[in-house]
Amino acid sequence: MSKRLGFAALSAGMALTLAACGGEGAGGSGGAGGEGAAAEDLTIGVSMPTQTSERWIADGNNVKEQLEAEGYTVDLQYANDDIPTQSQQIDQMITEGADILVVAAIDGTALSGQLENAASNNIPVVSYDRLIRDSENVDFYVTFDNFAVGQAQGNALLQGLGLRNEDGSPGTATGPFNIELFAGSLDDNNAFFFFNGAMDVLQPLIDDGTLVVKSGQTSIEQAAILRWQQETAQRRMEDLLTSAYNDGSRVDGVLSPYDGLSRGIITALQNAGYGPTLDAANPMAVVTGQDAEIASVKLINDGVQSSTIFKDTRLLAEQAVAAASAFAEGNEPEANDTETYDNGVKVVPSYLLPVETVFADDIQSVLIDSGYWTADEVASGQSD
Ligand code: BGC
Repeated sequence: MSKRLGFAALSAGMALTLAACGGEGAGGSGGAGGEGAAAEDLTIGVSMPTQTSERWIADGNNVKEQLEAEGYTVDLQYANDDIPTQSQQIDQMITEGADILVVAAIDGTALSGQLENAASNNIPVVSYDRLIRDSENVDFYVTFDNFAVGQAQGNALLQGLGLRNEDGSPGTATGPFNIELFAGSLDDNNAFFFFNGAMDVLQPLIDDGTLVVKSGQTSIEQAAILRWQQETAQRRMEDLLTSAYNDGSRVDGVLSPYDGLSRGIITALQNAGYGPTLDAANPMAVVTGQDAEIASVKLINDGVQSSTIFKDTRLLAEQAVAAASAFAEGNEPEANDTETYDNGVKVVPSYLLPVETVFADDIQSVLIDSGYWTADEVASGQSD
């Protein structure tokens, strides 16, 4: 079992709290004082939500590889989108001597107990991509600019419909267009940022009648898809088509916050006679996405899905590793945002990364030239 970190590795607030209690916490004795601990002596627990989506597999692998390259021992676990499994895995990481935790939560509100356990063992916690809510014991947050993701999705929908050009100037189309709105899982803090960011762009056009949400389902609660499940999105799209488009009208665009949902939505539309492509006689609706999953990048390349938002998980892993290393060395990680992410108990210092919108024309320059996917992977729709 590796040594626990001492006070120097803790955030100031945490250290003060513990000092006020007059104790070092369960694992405080083996800490490395002001100098921090050597990477070789430290174990980092990395808890990821699921392996059903490529992005989380890539996240897990990237974080593990980069931490190992720095000399840390890594305990990487995936929780099958099951909340009790994730809680149990984190408890076990703590029992087995993790010195730092990096956690991408399934349900951001369900880990307070585990985080209390971590705090009392002097274990700094880095919240990875999804903010852990309702806990004092989140020490740092690494993510993308999630509101900007939503805005980019809203803009991509407008661009796909021809209402706006890439530079934001008015496009050739005038509408009105029928659209439907999808949101992510309500237990994921990000879902609200994505939806609010998108509505920031879309609401004015809904208000002036350029965009019509024919189902009337405009609240995030109505649009949400529990656990980001593709099948649930497909069923909701089927229901929307049956209930709101059985009068011969068509849906022109769909705001989708994640590629997995987009594929479910596209399947429902194709089954109803849309497409198969955006330039077919009865064209596929303009569907947005997120994550640049390979199956969706192929669909974009084939002219079926309109766009996605690329989040370079390699860079996110780098930030997670930088945060963990800072804690290991007894320092505070460097934040570039200390205002946006209030988890219900405190504002968590964060590092936010930028994102990029990808249409078919951007695949080469953004995804292939950067080495994220190869041309062969894009053509086959499968990662090697
Ligand atoms: C992530 C997205 C992802 C979604 C579904 C969110 O928390 O930020 O990138 O599409 O989860 O996995």
